[in-house]
Amino acid sequence: MIAPVKEAEAPATRDFARSKRDSLRIGRLPIHFFATAAIFFACGVVATPFFVSQIVDFFYQPPILALVHTFTLGWITASIMGVMYRYVPALTRHPISYPRVAMWQLALFIIGTIGIISHFANGIWVGTWFSAAILIVSVAMFAANMFPCLYPRLGRGVAETGMFLSTCLLLVAASIGFVLSLDKTYNFLGGDVLTNLASHVHFAAIGWVTLTICAVSYRMLPAFLLPKIQVPRSATWQLLALAIATIALGVTLLIGLRGAIFWSFAIAAALLAYIITMGRLVRSRRMPIDFTARHALAGIAWLVLAIVFGLILAIIGPQGIEGSRIAPAYGAMGLLGWISNFIIGMSYQLFPGFAARARVAAGWRAVTISELSVKTPRWLVFIAYNAGVALLTAGFALSSILLAQVGAVAIAIGGIAYSATTLWTLSFAYRKAVPKAALNPMRVLPS
Ligand code: HEM
Repeated sequence: MIAPVKEAEAPATRDFARSKRDSLRIGRLPIHFFATAAIFFACGVVATPFFVSQIVDFFYQPPILALVHTFTLGWITASIMGVMYRYVPALTRHPISYPRVAMWQLALFIIGTIGIISHFANGIWVGTWFSAAILIVSVAMFAANMFPCLYPRLGRGVAETGMFLSTCLLLVAASIGFVLSLDKTYNFLGGDVLTNLASHVHFAAIGWVTLTICAVSYRMLPAFLLPKIQVPRSATWQLLALAIATIALGVTLLIGLRGAIFWSFAIAAALLAYIITMGRLVRSRRMPIDFTARHALAGIAWLVLAIVFGLILAIIGPQGIEGSRIAPAYGAMGLLGWISNFIIGMSYQLFPGFAARARVAAGWRAVTISELSVKTPRWLVFIAYNAGVALLTAGFALSSILLAQVGAVAIAIGGIAYSATTLWTLSFAYRKAVPKAALNPMRVLPS
């Protein structure tokens, strides 16, 4: 009599064990992405001072492409993918369809990113396009996990619509990157090298990264600042306008049509609408301004400056002496000022919570978000980092190596302090040990 019961229970037990393993895998997945991002960020900020004089010379050179992708892929894209793996299933109430594919996706992403950075650094284009192909496979696997969650909410949820579009544009950006690098070996593309480059840059930096940040912040910023989430009605239109203008600008640049300046102004208008909406939300806040909001506000200030510099660049072009000074200043404002400030601020709210949840999923002793947060160096990070970005961009715009060098060192100081404390927080998702604060007998226990 006992045997059939055991036989009936065995598959159920196996299923339970498998689903527990899957939930642990998914719980840890964003942490793997964040740890990867923090390591690439540390590498990028340490390397920047050594590249400054080359950038002041001319921004478009293979070693600079390596540095740029340490930030854009290693730091920015890894952080955003990590957030989306946690945020999208929670928001859409639709589990990730292929949890095991997600682990392979991460592995391919790391291999492709290290590959593209090292081949850029050595100027080996065959290795660059091979790595770009690996990245396209990784991005397609990411999309295969995101689309089943996001597609049913297309047009109904603001954040979901924005993230669906931005994931599509990441695929486009990666494919253009692949074609541009293939062209260096086979020389089949027409048009101007810098104009083709600008098409990839806009699909990636605006279509993928900025669109995702806008979409996520429409939901997240009210959640951090207001007692109740109120997503403004205009938000979906702003996201659609930004996506359409970015696609139009990218295509215009790629196939050499007229109208790049018009589409640049359309992007600026869509971003201005976003800034005004965010300004309204911050003014009506009930919560105090913390470091998340401080970094978000600094990011928005950098976005305003990046829009101004972007429009000047659209009018004068990057080819002349003035343009070649403004282009790296514009890039630094966008990637280090706007995007990175946003990620740093958001990480203070999200990363300790994700690590705490991963511990619970592993069945380890629970700790609170505040026990996992290192708050003391946040002023240093905020001031050194932003002062550094200001000096770096001024140095690029004025062609002053000294100014840019001092800025890069300040960025490195803030960036290393940030990466070290972030990795300390994330490490508790991988080890049973608890932080010292959790050993206090008077501590308030997490519920
Ligand atoms: C997704 C995979 C990606 C691939 C395969 C890729 C590939 C490339 C390639 C091959 C170039 C050089 C093109 C040329 O010399 O003509 C390039 C340049 C550039 N990419 Fe990417 N990229 C990717 C993602 C990104 C992302 C996500 C961003 C921004 C957020 C970005 C920003 C840039 C910038 C700013 C440059 C120009 C840098 C300079 O001139 O110094 N890329 N990319």
